[in-house]
Amino acid sequence: MDTKQISLFSPASDREDLEAEVQSLRREIEKHNQAYYELDNPLISDSEYDALMRKLKDLETEIASGGGSIPNNSPSRKVGGRAAKKFAQIAHNPPMLSLDNVFSEEEFRDFYQKLLVRLGLPANTELTLSAEPKFDGLAVNLRYEYGKLTAAATRGDGQNGEDVTANVREISDIPKQLTGNLPDLIDIRGEIFMTKKAFAELNAKSQEKSGGKLFANPRNAAAGSLRQLNPEITRERNLSFFAYGIGSYQNFTLPQNYSELLRTYRSFNIPSCDLQQQINGLDAAIEFMTNLGKIRNELPFDIDGVVFKVDEFALQKQAGFISRAPRWAIAWKFPAIEVSTQILDIDIQVGRTGALTPVARLEPVEIAGVTVSNATLHNALEIARKDIYIGDFVFLRRAGDVIPEIVKAIPEKRPADARKFQMPAHCPVCNSAVIQDESAVIRCSGGLHCPAQKTAALIHFASRAALDIQGLGEKIIDDAVELGKLRNPADIFRLTLEDWKNLPRLGQKSAENLVAAIKKARFCTLPRFIYALGIREIGAVNARAIAEKFSSIEKILSATEEEFLAIDGIGEESAKYLKSFLSDQENLAVIQDLLQLGIVLEEMPAKKTVNSIFSDKKVVITGSFAEFSREELGEILRTLGAKVSASVSKNTDFLVAGEKAGSKLDKARGLGVQIIDAEKLQSELAKTRQEEENA
Ligand code: IVH
Repeated sequence: MDTKQISLFSPASDREDLEAEVQSLRREIEKHNQAYYELDNPLISDSEYDALMRKLKDLETEIASGGGSIPNNSPSRKVGGRAAKKFAQIAHNPPMLSLDNVFSEEEFRDFYQKLLVRLGLPANTELTLSAEPKFDGLAVNLRYEYGKLTAAATRGDGQNGEDVTANVREISDIPKQLTGNLPDLIDIRGEIFMTKKAFAELNAKSQEKSGGKLFANPRNAAAGSLRQLNPEITRERNLSFFAYGIGSYQNFTLPQNYSELLRTYRSFNIPSCDLQQQINGLDAAIEFMTNLGKIRNELPFDIDGVVFKVDEFALQKQAGFISRAPRWAIAWKFPAIEVSTQILDIDIQVGRTGALTPVARLEPVEIAGVTVSNATLHNALEIARKDIYIGDFVFLRRAGDVIPEIVKAIPEKRPADARKFQMPAHCPVCNSAVIQDESAVIRCSGGLHCPAQKTAALIHFASRAALDIQGLGEKIIDDAVELGKLRNPADIFRLTLEDWKNLPRLGQKSAENLVAAIKKARFCTLPRFIYALGIREIGAVNARAIAEKFSSIEKILSATEEEFLAIDGIGEESAKYLKSFLSDQENLAVIQDLLQLGIVLEEMPAKKTVNSIFSDKKVVITGSFAEFSREELGEILRTLGAKVSASVSKNTDFLVAGEKAGSKLDKARGLGVQIIDAEKLQSELAKTRQEEENA
C-alpha cells in the first residue's frame, strides 16, 4: 500500500487520485458481488476478492484519517448482494450480518485483545469462546412458528432476502416440523452447503451433457441449487444444513450461551456441526485453528476457516456491532484451496502406453503453500466439455495431497486472442500418426519407436515394483536414450561399466554401483518380470495373477487370449492387450534377449502367496518417500496383497507414513490406526523380498 498520508491539506490532485481509485475499486467489487451473490458465477477466487476488499478498506481508512467521509453504500459497509427480483422478498429482523476476516495469528491476537478491551476485561483473560468451522455455503434464515417451517429466506443484502421457502422444503436436512419443547416463533439461522461428494457428482453430471453449467466450487453450486424457481431442482441437488445463529423469537428462553443454543437446536432436530467446541482463551483458539487446518481436507464439506464467537450472549450484547459485522465474532481464514489463474499454453505429454495427455501450462500460482504451474487436462473430450481455450482464465482447486484440478474456465474473462485447442494428428515426440481408441484416449502409434514411450517404458522397467534397479532413474535413462545407448530393456544388461561411466551424470563410483544393481536385478520373480514389461492394463496385481496361473514365461508366451480371459480380474480389454503385446515380434525379441542375457526367472509354484503383514489389509499411504513415488509404493503394496485406499477411516489397518506426513497421520493417530514409518516399511519390504527369493 502507498503509505503517503493524504489529508485535506494534501494537494487536491492527490486527493482526487485517491478518490478516483477508491471509486473504481468499489465498482469492481460491486461487479464481483453481483457475479457471486446474484449470478452464482464468480469471476475471481475468494482470496482475490478478499484482497480487493482489504485494499478498499485500507484506502477508505486513509481517506477517513484525512478527514474524508465514506458513503454508507460502499461495499465495505454492506452485506452480500441484492435479492434477485425473481423471488419475493422477506425482511430480516434483526438484520443478517456478515463476519470480519483475519488471515494470520497476529491479526487474530489483535482481534482478541481489542475484544477484551471492549468488554472491559484484563488483557490476560481467558475468554470463553465458541469455535467452529466456517462453512462455505450460503446463509439462510428459517422461520418456525409453533414448530412448523413457515418461511425460509437467503441473506440477500442483510436487510432483505429472497423467499426460498418452497426450495428449502426440499432439503432433507432441514425439518419441516420441529420436535421437543417448542417456542411460538423462532428464526433459526445457519448455512446451506453442498458436500464435496454432491458437488463432484453434480459437475460430473453437467459435464456429460454439452453446455451443462459447471460450478466453480461447492459454495456456488449450493447457491445456484437453492436459488432456483423450480424446487424439483433443489431436491435433486442434495443440499445440507448446519445452524449457527438466531434471529427473532417469541416464547423462547434464550440459553446463556451459544454452545447451549446449539444443543437446544439439536433437541428440536435441527442439525449443527459436531466440530463446534466451547474453548477458553487465546491459546486454545490458536490450537483449534491449527488442528482443524490439519483435518480440513478430510472433511466431507468445504470449509474456509474457523469462526470464533464470544460464547456468552450477555457478553455478545456488550460487544455490539459495526455496520456489517458483529464485534463479538471473527472468521479466521485458511489459505485458499481455490485460485484463479491463466492457461498460457497446452502441451502434450506422451506416456508409457503412448497416450497423449494435454497438460495446461499455467501462470504459476500458489495454492495452500504450493506453487502450481501445470495441471493435467486429461483428454480432448474433457477440454471440449469444459470449454477451455488456450489463454483462458480458469479456476484451479487443490484439495489436500490431491493433484491440482482445473474446475472450469471463466469464459467471461476470455482474452480476444484466446485460441481453441486441437489434439495433434501426429505424436509431438516421434511424429508418428495418432490413433484414437474406443475411449477418449488418443495414442501415438509409434510404440517403442517413439522415444517418449521408450523412455517411459524403460523407467517403468527399472522401477521399484518392477526389476528394482537401484540407481537407474529417470534422468540417467533420459540421457542414455538420447545418446542412443538404450533402445530397449535388454540393452540395460548389454551396456558395460565403460558405457555407463561415459554418461554425463555418472562417475566411476555410481557407475560401479549401477552395474552391481543391474547384476542383482537379473534374479527376478515372474510376477515382477511380467509387470516390468509394461503391458497396458497389466499392473502388479494382474501380473501376479498371470504368473500364478501359468507359472512360467514359456507357458505365458504360448497362452491364448481365452486363457488370459479366464483369469480373475482380467477382462476382455486386458486379455487383448496381453495377447497382442506377446505376439508382437519386436516384443518377443526383447523378451528372448532378456532371457539370453541372463535374466533368471524363478518359476512360480501355482498359488504361492508371499507372507506379508500387508496381505488382505486396508492400507493408506501418506507423505513422501526417498525411494519411490506414492503410486509406485501403492503398486508394491498391492503385490503384497494390500488393499490401498486414499483416505483414513476407522477400517484402515495401516497408515504407511513417509516424510512430511500431514493430516492423514494426525487422523490415523486419532483413530488408533497402526502407523508404519519409512524404516519399518523398509524392513517389511526386505523381509518379503527375501521370502519371495527363497520361495
Ligand atoms: S455466524 C452475525 N458461523 O459466513 C454472525 N457464519 O462471512 C453471523 N458462515 O454470512 C454468522 N460458517 O454465511 C457464522 N460457523 C459460522 C459460519 C458462518 C459460515 C458464513 C455466513 C456468514 C458469512 C460471513
